[in-house]
Amino acid sequence: MDYIKKIELAKKIAEKGGKLINKLSSEDIEVRSKGTHDFVTNVDTSVEDLIIKELKAEFPNHGILAEESGIGESDSEYKWIIDPIDGTTNFTRGIPIYAISIGLEHKGETVGGVVYNVAIDEMFTAVKGEGAYLNGKRIHVSEQSKIEDTLIGTGFPFKRGVDYDQYMGLFKQIAIKTAGIRRPGSASIDLCWVACGRYDAFFEFGLNPWDVGAGVVIIKEAGGVVTDTKGGNDYVYGKSIIGANNKIIHSFLLEQITEYYYKS
Ligand code: IPD
Ligand code: CA
Ligand code: CA
Repeated sequence: MDYIKKIELAKKIAEKGGKLINKLSSEDIEVRSKGTHDFVTNVDTSVEDLIIKELKAEFPNHGILAEESGIGESDSEYKWIIDPIDGTTNFTRGIPIYAISIGLEHKGETVGGVVYNVAIDEMFTAVKGEGAYLNGKRIHVSEQSKIEDTLIGTGFPFKRGVDYDQYMGLFKQIAIKTAGIRRPGSASIDLCWVACGRYDAFFEFGLNPWDVGAGVVIIKEAGGVVTDTKGGNDYVYGKSIIGANNKIIHSFLLEQITEYYYKS
């Protein structure tokens, strides 16, 4: 089975996951704390179980890396990277910005992804070499290259142990130099919103592979540039990311991060 068919299946599984989220949302949701400011609900675990069960039925040997259940070791060349609800805090508050994120890795390279914003029924998909789509329509990054007119997405640090002064120095510089900063609360959706031109770039520190494993393919296939925050290629497992519409805006963010985050 090729990448396209695999991602078609992942899309169908995400749709099933979306239906399950909507069904369980009408019942009482149990919220549990995993760590400081870090929450999980019974819906996260039920949806993750469903996604893994469906993938395993089709691909019993494939590897799995899923947020709530960890790593399913495998010798396969394929690995699925799953976040059952990216944006759990939004979900528990009824803020309609949360997604099922399913990425596909082949021989260590991310080759396909599905990000489904359940509340507003927006399905982002991409397969390496085949373009990126929103609800079946081709999407592209914005053409913006004037720094003062760019709109930037980010995720504010919120876990214990963060140096807020270091982050705020960078935040200030970017806020002064651009048209504005947004923090919707779901990294996978942030990447997709760059992919479809809603904003021009996104950066965040402290992420996990399941937050970005699908979105990175979608942004690249939409014509965008993705690196880690040091300009390297370790953006899936390296815990930090810059995703931008083009090299000019990417270089701008990389320079700001180098100067006002790493040197501060
Ligand atoms: C979180 C979201 C959020 C980001 C956090 C992630 P979760 O994922 O993507 O935007 O700032 O770092 O942990 O916990 O809701 O799956
Ligand atoms: Ca997440
Ligand atoms: Ca999650």
